[in-house]
Formats: sequence, structure tokens, C-alpha cells
Amino acid sequence: MAKDGEKGDWKEFLWNPRTREFLGRTASSWGLILLFYLVFYIFLAGLFALTMYVMLQTLDDHKPTWQDRLATPGMVIRPKANEALEIVYNITETESWDMYAQALDKFLSPYNDSVQAEKNHECIPNQHFMQEDSGDVKNNPKRSCQFNRTVLDECSGINDRYYGYHDGKPCIIIKLNRVIGLMPEMDGRAPYVTCGPKKEDTDKIGELAYFPPNGTFNLMYYPYYGKKAQVNYSQPLVAIKFLNITANQDVNIECKINANNIPRGSERDKFAGRVSFKLRINTRK
Ligand SMILES: *[C@@H]1O[C@H](CO)[C@@H](O)[C@H](O)[C@H]1NC(C)=O
Ligand SMILES: *[C@@H]1O[C@H](CO)[C@@H](O)[C@H](O)[C@H]1NC(C)=O
Ligand SMILES: *[C@@H]1O[C@H](CO)[C@@H](O)[C@H](O)[C@H]1NC(C)=O
Ligand SMILES: *[C@@H]1O[C@H](CO)[C@@H](O)[C@H](O)[C@H]1NC(C)=O
Ligand SMILES: *[C@@H]1O[C@H](CO)[C@@H](O)[C@H](O)[C@H]1NC(C)=O
Ligand SMILES: *[C@@H]1O[C@H](CO)[C@@H](O)[C@H](O)[C@H]1NC(C)=O
Repeated sequence: MAKDGEKGDWKEFLWNPRTREFLGRTASSWGLILLFYLVFYIFLAGLFALTMYVMLQTLDDHKPTWQDRLATPGMVIRPKANEALEIVYNITETESWDMYAQALDKFLSPYNDSVQAEKNHECIPNQHFMQEDSGDVKNNPKRSCQFNRTVLDECSGINDRYYGYHDGKPCIIIKLNRVIGLMPEMDGRAPYVTCGPKKEDTDKIGELAYFPPNGTFNLMYYPYYGKKAQVNYSQPLVAIKFLNITANQDVNIECKINANNIPRGSERDKFAGRVSFKLRINTRK
């Protein structure tokens, strides 16, 4: 009897036909619990999927999401000057300027015409070289334009392997730091570099020659799409040759880029788009 009763209790717990309860709950109670968990998990899954989706949308393997570099590019000179940005040498002492020539050799080596012909593309000059992605279709790897060393002519180190340092007409090469997406231009044309004396050194700087002519950074080298997207990118260069600089005196020089969309050294960043250095050529022993 007792056995039967126990069995009946168990059976009743499993399914109670009187109250129509299954495992102690009614169908609607079970339904609500299931519904609650269903909605809850769908919500969690949805949240996760949404987060992933948003993350993946903003991440691009070929383009950094955050750029920690300044939007206004700095300018640097080659050969590298010392910390005080001074290029000082004695014409008569070869070892005082030979290092500059060697530094330029090394710096310009990747610009050899043969290297450029192998790595880079011959672009249409005077227009931006746009290689945008079309929607989700990534246009990678992106091509880069040739910048041939010979463009630097008298400052290319090809005909004059000492870059003019030995005869007091040295070359300085200017490079604009890379900024992804920047398209510098001057009234729709190529931005260009100009160098001039600083304050009291007006008459000491003498005549300058620019290579390529007018000291332009051709539009075809912009925009730059980043290291991963544009692996072979060669930054365009401008060379300045000092044809008649006063010797045996400090000459303070400032070079700047002339472009509509690069702010001229604002208060916040005095060095944006410009570089200053001292050049001193000693002719006495
Ligand atoms: C150049 O010569 C001057 C003497 O006229 C000397 O004082 C100076 O150290 C020399 N500079 C270099 C870079 O050799
Ligand atoms: C570039 O050319 C110079 C001579 O003009 C040569 O000495 C140098 O090895 C070349 N560099 C490369 C990487 O081809
Ligand atoms: C660069 O030099 C190479 C080899 O001489 C030549 O084929 C190419 O046309 C030059 N590129 C430009 C843009 O002048
Ligand atoms: C980069 O240069 C290498 C040769 O150094 C070449 O094989 C490759 O195709 C170039 N990549 C692009 C995207 O131009
Ligand atoms: C240099 O600039 C002058 C004046 O702006 C212009 O007439 C000339 O065509 C330019 N030369 C080159 C090679 O761009
Ligand atoms: C070089 O500059 C000096 C003044 O520093 C001037 O007297 C001379 O005429 C200039 N030479 C040339 C070729 O321009």
C-alpha cells in the first residue's frame, strides 16, 4: 500500500492530472520560464553579435583606426644634422663633410631609378593617385608612384658624388613626414618648398636651386594609405642646393611647405610644415 502511495506521489509529481502540473508547474508557468530564457539568450547573443559587428566594421587591417601622428606633417632634413640642427663643416677637411655625403648616399639608395622601376608604378603626374576601396572590396595592396633619384638632378649624387659639399655648394634634402590620407595642395596644384634666411641672415643665404624644379611635391604621391596598404611607398623629396652661401659665418635657414591645407606653424605646433637649421661652411683651415 505504502509502496503504491509512494509510486502515486512520484507519478503525481511528474504529471498531476488534477491540477494539470508537470514537475510541479503548469504549462503556462513552464512556458513563461522558457520564454524568459529564450528572450534573455537571444538578447545576449544579439548584443554580442552587434558588438562584434561594430568592432569589425571599424577595424581595417590596412588602415589604423587611430592615428597617433599629427595631422600636420613635420618636415625633416637630410643629411641628419646634429641635435642643435647644425650642419657645419670645413671644405678643406674632407672628413668633416664626407659623412654627410655618405649619409645621403645611404638615404637615396632606395630611390635609385632601377629600384624604383622594380618596386613602383609610373603614375600620371599632377593629379592625386586615388586608390579607394569600393565598399567592402578592399583595393589592396595599393600601388605607389616612382620617385626617381635622377629627379634630384645636381643633388642626386649621380654626377656629383659629393653633393656639392666639397665646393661649398651643398645640397640639403627635405622630406615631409607621412600622414595617412593627407592631400597637400596649393591652389589645386602641387605644394612646394621654399627656403629662406631667418631674420638677420638675409643677405648671407645666396641663390638657391630647387630639385625637382620649383621644389614641388607632385600631387601623384598623395594620398598615402599607410604602411600596410601601400608597402612600397616612397616619400617624395625636394632637394635644395645652396649656390652662393656666405662662408665662415652661421647662416640660419628656414624651409617650409607652401600648401593651402597645411597650417603654417600654429601656436600649438610650431614645427608643422617647416624646419629650421643652421648651415656653416668654413673655408679656412
Ligand atoms: C673647421 O676649422 C675650424 C678652424 O677654422 C675649427 O675650429 C673647426 O673645429 C673645424 N671644424 C670641423 C668640423 O672640422
Ligand atoms: C644605388 O645607386 C648607387 C650608385 O648610383 C649604388 O652605389 C647603390 O648601391 C645603389 N643602391 C641600390 C640599393 O641599388
Ligand atoms: C624612373 O626610372 C626608370 C628607369 O630609368 C624609368 O623607366 C621610369 O620611367 C622613370 N620614372 C619616372 C616617373 O620618371
Ligand atoms: C613592391 O615591390 C616588390 C619588389 O620589391 C614587388 O614585387 C611588388 O609587386 C611591389 N608591390 C606593389 C603593391 O607595388
Ligand atoms: C615653376 O613655377 C613657375 C611660376 O609659378 C611656373 O611658371 C613654372 O611653370 C613652374 N615650373 C615647373 C617645372 O613646374
Ligand atoms: C655671391 O654672393 C656674394 C655676396 O655674398 C655676391 O657678391 C656675389 O655676386 C654672388 N655671386 C653670384 C654668382 O651670385
